[in-house]
Amino acid sequence: MDYRPQVLFVTSEMYPYSKTGGLADVMGALPLSLSRLGVSVGVITPFYGRLASSDYPLRLIYEDCPVGYPWPDTTADIFLSDYHGLPVYFIARGEYFDRRFLYCTHKGDYFDNCERFIFFCRATMEWARRLSKPPTVIHAHDWHAALVPAYLHFLRKVDPFWEQTKSVVTIHNLAFQGRFAFRLFLESGLPHTAWHSDGAEFYGDFNLLKCGISFADLVTTVSPSYAKEILTPEFGCGLEGILRRRAADLKGILNGADYQVWDPKQDKFLPGTYSLELLTGKRRCKESLFQELGLDPRMLTRPLLGFVGRLRQQKGIDLLLEIIPKLMQRNVCVVILGEGDLQFEALLLEMMENYPGRLSTRIGYTEDLAHRIQAGVDVFLMPSRYEPCGLTQMYSLRYGSLPVASAVGGLLDTIVGHPQDKSTGFIFKPIQAEAFLECIDQALALWNDKEKWRAMQVRAMRMDFSWAKAAEQYIQIYNDQGSNLSLI
Ligand code: ADP
Ligand code: GLC
Repeated sequence: MDYRPQVLFVTSEMYPYSKTGGLADVMGALPLSLSRLGVSVGVITPFYGRLASSDYPLRLIYEDCPVGYPWPDTTADIFLSDYHGLPVYFIARGEYFDRRFLYCTHKGDYFDNCERFIFFCRATMEWARRLSKPPTVIHAHDWHAALVPAYLHFLRKVDPFWEQTKSVVTIHNLAFQGRFAFRLFLESGLPHTAWHSDGAEFYGDFNLLKCGISFADLVTTVSPSYAKEILTPEFGCGLEGILRRRAADLKGILNGADYQVWDPKQDKFLPGTYSLELLTGKRRCKESLFQELGLDPRMLTRPLLGFVGRLRQQKGIDLLLEIIPKLMQRNVCVVILGEGDLQFEALLLEMMENYPGRLSTRIGYTEDLAHRIQAGVDVFLMPSRYEPCGLTQMYSLRYGSLPVASAVGGLLDTIVGHPQDKSTGFIFKPIQAEAFLECIDQALALWNDKEKWRAMQVRAMRMDFSWAKAAEQYIQIYNDQGSNLSLI
């Protein structure tokens, strides 16, 4: 292969090919922003059974790439897709990735997740080894890719090909670590010297994310506030010790929002587009959302509140469930789109029955409806217990749907809470139902003051979280590592 990405991203999901959450959005945008700034970037990701690749077809470019020790008989096929000029390599092996879901079913995680992602990381290294030159930086995301920096760390000592390559691992969510039994460490092919408490070992288990944190040249996470929070026991998920030891190499870089995809001026999923100057389209979006979700049209003159996200404790969906009866007394409508814990899904559907025309719940993963909710609601709810960055609040700001969010992580870094100067939304703490409801009440009070509401919408819609800023910071940290990117 004569193509040489200078920065090679390794990720378990990438929009538009595959997505379960924000990681995919980041992968669909950050590599492109880097390339616009002159860095040549490639991406490596698994070939899941169901890929949304009709706009970016895939072709098989290499068959039976061996994945090496200690898996002598296992091979991967490599597919390539051209994503706006960037090469995206797909690692294919049906037995591991051709499944309905990416990581889990409703019954729990796939039993062989550790093998699946050991395989993925091994195949990544072997495939990258076949490129004509080594990448300058290999940038792994989350636990699924976190063995890559560990492999690199040890390979650099024995294979001159890798000598100059630096590694970065980015933590998108510390709660997901990839923690497995010790016997799986033996399957990874890492040397026994990797097995120590500043390495792969975590309370006797094999911890893939910890491997990445321990062996990467640099560790980043997706907002400055989360970078501080994860050094504490409250947010560190047991890894605060190793993170503190690596604090000098830990940076928080705020994610961006992809305004090519998330912008009410040009959103292909909306019944009407709109802008800061002309908000009539937003009104149309609200009307049509009422129809789509079966809400009572008599309530159109009242505020519409919305939630889009994984139905997990992290997202505080239980707090929202708790306050719904009280919210209903406030004469508002609520829409919820999400999937996740069965227990929350069932509760939400049950509750919907109690409030016909007022509460509408859609269980499932529907990209286009997520856009229409962002556009159609007045208030966007994000009561997360922790939030490494959060993208949906950035989208809601751009759509003029003012966020009510908890005071954590990336939410603190992106929303200016009322009544501060230049506020763009509403922030609450402590992260409890009562405070959440009080904060919504503040939002509803401001909504009654049309002029003030409009002024806040204007400020929110003007916020600029474009990826270019983040991309510049990534280039800076790559170069601080001495990687000396030659920008094209
Ligand atoms: P996280 O990655 O923690 O889930 P983010 O706010 O970073 O949270 O990103 C979530 C992304 O997933 C957004 O693009 C959001 O619109 C999308 N999303 C979440 N749940 C759903 C759903 N049920 N249907 C469609 N899109 C969803
Ligand atoms: C994770 C986090 C979310 C973040 C996303 C992209 O899923 O939960 O806060 O925005 O990754 O970095």
